[in-house]
Amino acid sequence: MSLPSRPRPVMLVTGASAGIGAALARVHAEKGWDLILTARREAPLRALADELALTGAAATILTEDLADPAAPRRLFEAVAARGLAVDGLVNNAGYSRTAGFLNTDPDDHRAMIQVMLTAPVELARLFASAMVERGYGRILNVASLAGQMPATGGDTLYGPIKSFLIKASQGLHLELRGTGVHVTALCPGYTLTEFHDVNGTRSEVSSAYPGWMWQTAEHVARVGYAACEANRPKVTPGVMNNLLAGLAKYLPDRVALNMVGGHAKRLKRL
Ligand SMILES: NC(=O)c1ccc[n+]([C@@H]2O[C@H](COP(=O)([O-])OP(=O)(O)OC[C@H]3O[C@@H](n4cnc5c(N)ncnc54)[C@H](OP(=O)(O)O)[C@@H]3O)[C@@H](O)[C@H]2O)c1
Repeated sequence: MSLPSRPRPVMLVTGASAGIGAALARVHAEKGWDLILTARREAPLRALADELALTGAAATILTEDLADPAAPRRLFEAVAARGLAVDGLVNNAGYSRTAGFLNTDPDDHRAMIQVMLTAPVELARLFASAMVERGYGRILNVASLAGQMPATGGDTLYGPIKSFLIKASQGLHLELRGTGVHVTALCPGYTLTEFHDVNGTRSEVSSAYPGWMWQTAEHVARVGYAACEANRPKVTPGVMNNLLAGLAKYLPDRVALNMVGGHAKRLKRL
């Protein structure tokens, strides 16, 4: 790994209190980074910071609710107030809503777009300029296999939000090529985290999808870390997930949408 001249670069990880975000924080600590950990819940962030301290990584905790439109700017200012420079950004915080478009409160939709679409864009915009000036930076946007798959009903906005994040990452990757700032979209498939507990589909997805379709957060994090170091614009962990993404790309829309309709029926969503 090529690192900037300071002994330990600093990675800001959103959604670090659980799952893939916590795993990405652990991998970065292992590779010599200090961390800024953010999420809404303070207790798991503190527990993670204590754990990372045992590996020699310093972790700063900044609790924030990214559904608040003022949160990205507040994070930026809190980082500056502590005299920290951010060398890397992991935009990871996210969740899905599966009750259906018409059963979801408009404010919930707004919050989802804010947390997973607007906040990552704003955080990248706020922190990337200094990375370019220093000639070193890493931006890893945690999107999803869902962003490469046909549209789904039930969690109607989730896929499009993740598609946006993939395309925006690829555009920024091109724009920053040659500056020393790497930009990668990480597109996990089914991953064992709190995600399906939070959206209330744990028992459905556990019975619908066999164990081999699930990956650990640690594996996903290691694949994401390596891809960003290699400055790949996009990475999808797992052979089967890559086959699915490839298939979705070449199927006619009509066939692809029918295929996904069948998937939704298995999950009893439609
Ligand atoms: N698990 C999967 O199967 C899967 C597959 C593909 C992509 N992904 C993506 O991977 C990312 C991480 O998800 P995960 O699987 O690790 O889920 P998770 O275990 O539920 O973790 C989600 C993280 O996001 C944070 N978060 C949620 N809402 C937030 C808000 N309003 N403000 C700040 N932080 C917020 C949570 O922290 P607090 O609750 O403490 O705020 C938590 O740290 C998400 O973007 C998700 O879309 C997951």
